[in-house]
Amino acid sequence: MNKINVAVLGLGSMGATHVRAAKESPFIEKITGYEPDAARAALRGGELGITAHNNLSEILDDKSIKLIYIAASNEAHRELAVSSLKAGKAVLCEKPMGITLEEARAMLNAEKESGSFLQIGFELHYSKLYMKVKEWIDAGLIGRPLNSHCLYYCSEFHKKNTWRVKSAGTLIGEKLSHYLDLPRWWFDKKVTEVFSMNAPNFVNYFNHPDNHQINYRFEDGSISNLNFVMGIAESDLGDPLMDIIEKQSDDGHALRYMIYGDKGAIEADVFRRRIRRWEFSDGEEKLESRIAEQIKFNKADDSEWFHNVYGQNLRIAELVANGMKPETPASDSFETMKLCFASEISEREKRIVKLDEL
Ligand SMILES: NC(=O)c1ccc[n+]([C@@H]2O[C@H](COP(=O)([O-])OP(=O)(O)OC[C@H]3O[C@@H](n4cnc5c(N)ncnc54)[C@H](O)[C@@H]3O)[C@@H](O)[C@H]2O)c1
Repeated sequence: MNKINVAVLGLGSMGATHVRAAKESPFIEKITGYEPDAARAALRGGELGITAHNNLSEILDDKSIKLIYIAASNEAHRELAVSSLKAGKAVLCEKPMGITLEEARAMLNAEKESGSFLQIGFELHYSKLYMKVKEWIDAGLIGRPLNSHCLYYCSEFHKKNTWRVKSAGTLIGEKLSHYLDLPRWWFDKKVTEVFSMNAPNFVNYFNHPDNHQINYRFEDGSISNLNFVMGIAESDLGDPLMDIIEKQSDDGHALRYMIYGDKGAIEADVFRRRIRRWEFSDGEEKLESRIAEQIKFNKADDSEWFHNVYGQNLRIAELVANGMKPETPASDSFETMKLCFASEISEREKRIVKLDEL
């Protein structure tokens, strides 16, 4: 078996996940960590049980390091990805692919010029809940997909004075890029235009909007909507309405997709831990629908079902060790980022934005 050495740039909470996943990969021999500050590098290296330092050139010059995982804060993605690709490394870079369109384009260009491997960390492509949606759509089980709707209430308030709160990028790239990327992947069509709106903030110390209604259209006329609120969740633990209790979903989050085709529909609900599929049939008197399939998953399998960074990273190590190409090309992730940036323009300029403008 081919084994490679890897480096993880940025050893915060996501960097720790990358290190743990790398430790489990049969394709990885040695892991080196990097943080710009020497004391933090030493601290995090010790906590994670790896060698870590603050000398990036040493990592880029080390020919035995074939793959670099970038888990630094968003502002550092472009610089780290471009220099790693130029040094001939394969790169798995966390989303977002840059905090501006220019940064995303620079990363894509560096990939093209270096001919090296660049995949963006859209790990939902490796998560069973979303893979099942893709499988059902590709098998034609809902007919032609026409309309998808994502409802995301998230009461995960980041701490004051952290990079997320002060980030030059917005929550659209930082958080919602995952949920704009999914319908693009499922429908497998080009997005042509977007109209997005945001209301005044719920979280007064965020320096960017914390809620969005993003509407976008695909080239074949199908449409999609993402309604995101980083605010109070739809119910809380004190809710007296028993039929809403289920929505409390551990900590008050809601994350649910409805995808409609002309022959059926799919519901993928993270916090109810289930995915359902309807079949529509054309009866003598009217259209009818029935639930054709339902799959539930257990709390213990949450990561594998809707946040499978481990699965993604194990696969990336395998691909790179065997000289294979990315499973999601960087050019495809760039299209998702275009949709993110076009949504931001739409909010700022209060108009429909054609993606061809970008
Ligand atoms: N795919 C996902 O679902 C997912 C989930 C969480 C976070 N992320 C992404 O992972 C990245 C890190 O997020 P986090 O939650 O670990 O944040 P964090 O704040 O816990 O960690 C960020 C780390 O990056 C380090 N850093 C800052 N500048 C750096 C530089 N120039 N070079 C190297 N390291 C640098 C910081 O010192 C810190 O240790 C972000 O891009 C975030 O969007 C992705």
